[in-house]
Amino acid sequence: MKIDGTPYRSIWLADDGQTVHIIDQTKLPHIFEIADLKSALDAATAIRDMLVRGAPLIGATGAYGLALAMREDASDTNLDSASDALLQTRPTASNLAWALNNLKEVLIPLPESQREAAAYQRASEICEDDVATCRAIGEHGASIIEKLWISKGRPDRINILTHCNAGWLATVDWGTALSAIYGAHEKGVPVHVWADETRPRNQGASLTAWELGKHGVKHTVIVGNASGHLMQHGQVDMCIVGTDRTTAAGDVCNKVGTYLKALAAHDNDVPFYVALPHSTIDWSINDSIRDVPIEIRSPEEVTHVWGKDSEGEVASVQITPDDTAALNVAFDVTPARYVTGLITERGICEASVQGLLNLYPEQKT
Ligand code: MRU
Repeated sequence: MKIDGTPYRSIWLADDGQTVHIIDQTKLPHIFEIADLKSALDAATAIRDMLVRGAPLIGATGAYGLALAMREDASDTNLDSASDALLQTRPTASNLAWALNNLKEVLIPLPESQREAAAYQRASEICEDDVATCRAIGEHGASIIEKLWISKGRPDRINILTHCNAGWLATVDWGTALSAIYGAHEKGVPVHVWADETRPRNQGASLTAWELGKHGVKHTVIVGNASGHLMQHGQVDMCIVGTDRTTAAGDVCNKVGTYLKALAAHDNDVPFYVALPHSTIDWSINDSIRDVPIEIRSPEEVTHVWGKDSEGEVASVQITPDDTAALNVAFDVTPARYVTGLITERGICEASVQGLLNLYPEQKT
């Protein structure tokens, strides 16, 4: 996608063919800065500290992290330890384990002398696959938005609520939920997005608003708590969110607060769609509430907020009384019964075992 007319991806290889460039998302929207990953440790730190975030981008960064590890030491021991270290950075998104396993399958049979080149090659293929996948998700999602707009008599604006950031910044390019919105915008559908701010880290207010603004898509930031009210007042035509892990039964784990949006959507007959690539599906989990690992992050993300002050300085301020306890649960699970449909690169399906197996028949056992 473009930033002020210049095309960017969220991760790319530098001209030296070794260093990995990323956009430091902790600085957005106020500062646009490119950071360099030169080691596996840099990649792990970037994922843990959320310089990169969003399930597909975490996977792509993990893949390049393993390539950087192979540059340092291509032994089996380092392959295992670097992969373990990367895997432990963030526990919820399936895409990280998917990408690391994918690379390991390629690397393990190879002699050490070939592993570095093969790892870079595979990491690059994972990125290209993500771009094509997200583009396809966008095409399928855009058709849902267009049909809804037509069915409502082509109003001047169609209001779509999204949560967190499931845009190009969360993937290698295009995004998942926002790819559908970009696709509809390209088709001339007058899309307006309610960007839910998404406390505590405010990915909606800082990243979704920034991306949509750079692409010229109309949007308004709301506090997460306003979404139910907007739905009750007919101001939300549909919701589209991303996901970090979707189970074989179609339960959806995504940024905390997604579940409450889905409940409000259900109560108000607002369609609630979830957009996802194949790499986000965890075919092994049966009990989503018990078995999906939910990341608990630092309480400081709850007690403090980052922002730009009136002097233009970016700073963190404390919003709770000194020494207040805070709990930072980063994700929640929305049961499949509240999901209108899953939008994948292969098309749209019901959020159910059968729905997913119809699209991914190779997973039938
Ligand atoms: O904690 P984050 O910012 O990594 O959470 C991101 C999300 O919850 C996204 O909705 C999800 O990864 C889907 S991204 C296409």
